[in-house]
Amino acid sequence: MALVRGDITALELDALVNAANSSLLGGGGVDGAIHRAAGPELLEECRKLGGCLTGEARMTGGYRLRARRVIHTVGPIWRGGGHGEAELLASCYRASLGLALENGVRSIAFPAISCGVYGYPVEDATAIAVRETAAFLEEHELPERVLFACFGDEVCAAYERALARRVRVA
Ligand code: APR
Repeated sequence: MALVRGDITALELDALVNAANSSLLGGGGVDGAIHRAAGPELLEECRKLGGCLTGEARMTGGYRLRARRVIHTVGPIWRGGGHGEAELLASCYRASLGLALENGVRSIAFPAISCGVYGYPVEDATAIAVRETAAFLEEHELPERVLFACFGDEVCAAYERALARRVRVA
């Protein structure tokens, strides 16, 4: 697991994870950036998927992206923490990594799911991201390379703290 600063769409990897909404028909934030970079065929394929529940993930091609595939996952909207948000966010990482494993994805990047429009507290969300990814990688051979693509100092600093805690624990 490692951090990479900047635009996730610039990364040349087997798969990028998209912080989508349940319609899978695009939006703002990283969803908008991925659809802009991938081009219209991405939306065409997404239309056929019939949406995605919060906490679940779906895979498509990457089209004009440098990445070969996109794994779309729908994070929880933060509503104060009493509506199962933590478990739903953890499920996003597990479901995305599970799809990656099933499809032989060797390298993958995650944005900070739910940390933008969906308002999830960044410290908690990045801790869940690192914890769930580390747990998955302890049990499975793939993906070999997992990047957390952070867009902005707050998210990056939070990921650095979460990763540093892992090192101390280990
Ligand atoms: N590359 C990497 N990270 C990005 C990029 C990018 N190009 N653009 C935004 N981000 C970061 C944001 O700064 C935030 O830290 O991705 C994180 C997730 O923010 P959002 O994209 O707003 O996603 P989310 O909070 O999960 O909300 C999802 O927003 O865009 C809509 O259609 C989407 O309805 C859905 C909702």
